[in-house]
Amino acid sequence: MTMPLSIVILAAGKGTRMHSDLPKVLHDLAGKSLVQHVLDSARALNPRSIQMVVGFGADKIKEKLQGQELDFVYQDQQLGTGHAVMQAIPKLKDDEQVLVLYGDVPLLQSSTLLDLVSQSQGKVGILTATVSQPNGLGRIIRDDQNNICAIVEDKDATEAQRAIKEINTGLMCIPGEALKRWLPKLQANNTQGEYYLTDIVAMADTEQMNIVSTPCIAEEAGGVNDKVQLAFAERYFQLRQATELMRAGLGLKDPNRFDLRGTLSHGRDVEIDINTILVGKVILGDGVRIGPNCLLRDCSLGAGTVVHTNSIVTESTVAENCHIGPFARLRPGNTLAAGAHVGNYVELKNTQVGTGSKANHLSYLGDSDIGAGVNIGAGTITCNYDGINKSRTTIEDDVFIGSNASLVAPVTLGAGSTVAAGSVITHDVEKKQLALGRSKQINKNGWQRPAKKKDR
Ligand code: UD1
Ligand code: CA
Repeated sequence: MTMPLSIVILAAGKGTRMHSDLPKVLHDLAGKSLVQHVLDSARALNPRSIQMVVGFGADKIKEKLQGQELDFVYQDQQLGTGHAVMQAIPKLKDDEQVLVLYGDVPLLQSSTLLDLVSQSQGKVGILTATVSQPNGLGRIIRDDQNNICAIVEDKDATEAQRAIKEINTGLMCIPGEALKRWLPKLQANNTQGEYYLTDIVAMADTEQMNIVSTPCIAEEAGGVNDKVQLAFAERYFQLRQATELMRAGLGLKDPNRFDLRGTLSHGRDVEIDINTILVGKVILGDGVRIGPNCLLRDCSLGAGTVVHTNSIVTESTVAENCHIGPFARLRPGNTLAAGAHVGNYVELKNTQVGTGSKANHLSYLGDSDIGAGVNIGAGTITCNYDGINKSRTTIEDDVFIGSNASLVAPVTLGAGSTVAAGSVITHDVEKKQLALGRSKQINKNGWQRPAKKKDR
């Protein structure tokens, strides 16, 4: 029988080294705040309760996490990790294991936390790592039997202790009853004048309680203290995520030049070239191919669709076998039916494109409903904005629009109609009509070009 679990997340620190007005734990990692990563891993363990200790920037943190199931406790002054956990005592129960997490340690996976929790039932469990550069970290002290008997902070350590490479990641899992007894006994008589959570390890040893270590990969337990560590954490996260996606069949030209800041669901034989950024919720059907330097945000692409180099697709739904780009920009609110083509330097906004319709070059199509089999010539612009109001343009099935037409909305082009190149269309066009909205061409005979004056 496993004991019930409560989680305490420490997030009161200021994060001075970030040099930022934003509380440290709200900085972004792969599209989510650092503390949201921690919360998501915590939530996956199905804890009885989650308490977050906040201090610096508490209001901003609370606002950001609004609506999520957790309790906030204040720590007015940051007097140490032990003092921070002490603030959570009123809500802790005797019969549970208490897992202490840090809001600025975002890379730990819930499977690692689960290992720590399951190995520490009724014991003190410490998540440890072995590192080559232990400077600044708490060292794990073991007795002659190799049992853990204490943690000594770097600043309080002797020369011999400093040589120890086994370190405390900071994360611990402790029986609630014991934790509530020990925390009030902590003393701040150390180099930093702080109440160290780590001092409870020696207390556990005195009571001959079992102290166990769960080793983890050092990078996973890495904290974020400055923007260098933030950038390294981002890369680590991205590479781990890319590796998982590739194992599930996603084709990536270079996992080091791939960024997913959200969630991706992909079919079989999807291939993504370099420097692509996926944001929010992205769905890619079987055989989708994404060229280099594309940005896809909150969109779904049907099977066989190709997005060519340097294109942007945001908040749009694209059916199967469409071609987008190169250099296309789909702003929010578009729906493309099967086989639609949106080519170079074409901008779409709030527009429906019917089956097999094509706008291959240099167009702006905004607030438009375009039927099936429509051909939109190069340079066609929907004039959807009069400075105050937005109006829609309706282009029915099989319309052919010549190059460089301006369609002044609201306007409807009836099915099968044709718009002559260079037209400015201000009135509706009936089915199958030809609309010419341009001045007539005049050709003059015997025209003499101006000649350069001869030098005298
Ligand atoms: C702590 C551990 C150390 C471990 C290291 C790993 C202690 C005494 N030391 O050291 O053994 O190797 O983490 O990174 O526990 N916090 C609060 N309130 C406070 C103090 C801290 O909320 O009063 C939060 C911080 O915001 C941070 C976390 O607790 O998220 C860790 O605090 P930090 O000061 O970085 O701990 P270290 O001294 O580095
Ligand atoms: Ca620190």
